[in-house]
Amino acid sequence: MPTAETPTLAVIIGSIRPDRFGPTVATWFTAEAQKHGAFEVDVIDLADYKLPVELAGNDYSVPPPEGVVRLGTRLAKADAYTLITPVYNRSYPASLKTAIDWFYTEWVLRPVSFISYGGVTGGLTAVEHLRGIFPEFPAITTKSFISLANFEKVFDYDGRPVDTAGLRVPATAVLDELAWWAPMLRQARKARPYPGLDFEPSANGETHAVPT
Ligand SMILES: Cc1cc2nc3c(=O)[nH]c(=O)nc-3n(C[C@H](O)[C@H](O)[C@H](O)COP(=O)(O)O)c2cc1C
Repeated sequence: MPTAETPTLAVIIGSIRPDRFGPTVATWFTAEAQKHGAFEVDVIDLADYKLPVELAGNDYSVPPPEGVVRLGTRLAKADAYTLITPVYNRSYPASLKTAIDWFYTEWVLRPVSFISYGGVTGGLTAVEHLRGIFPEFPAITTKSFISLANFEKVFDYDGRPVDTAGLRVPATAVLDELAWWAPMLRQARKARPYPGLDFEPSANGETHAVPT
């Protein structure tokens, strides 16, 4: 039973093209996260937000696009993130980078984990490229990750894992790590200023916030 102390895990579907595979991965991982029990889980599908590739200009009086405001409200409530990414040309999709770049304080001092899927490499290069982004905020990337090589063979025709127990092993490792970081960083965000940040990290429940 979730309480006010239960951290929220945002599971983000990073691909937005029609007929994408990302939602199959999200459905499986969300069920695992719910079984794990440490989090309230919020599944965020970037396809629902139509984020423009053209980012905000320098005039802060111009309101952000409606989709950015809606997504920012949800991101700000999260204590931890799992990014689900395909590999596109050895890296992550532009849709995911656009979503990352529209925000800042929402990522600050949160743990971030990754699930990638692709051909023989399982999308590992996408994960390694994503890892390089998050020190900027700063956010913590987890040591554990999930990489689904030849992903079409990992799930059956109905989108269920072929080897549920086998896939649970990396899922549990990721969720255990996030569950270690999330409450600690939530408390730390509230309790102590972080060196070098000249703005407050967004508190849970706060709406979209832009660094000044
Ligand atoms: C633009 C593009 C580039 C791709 N590049 C790679 C690649 O470098 N390596 C790979 O294993 N698969 C690659 N693929 C295949 C994707 O892994 C596969 O299409 C997957 O379904 C994409 O995820 P999505 O369905 O959620 O969009 C690529 C697919 C697209 C659309």
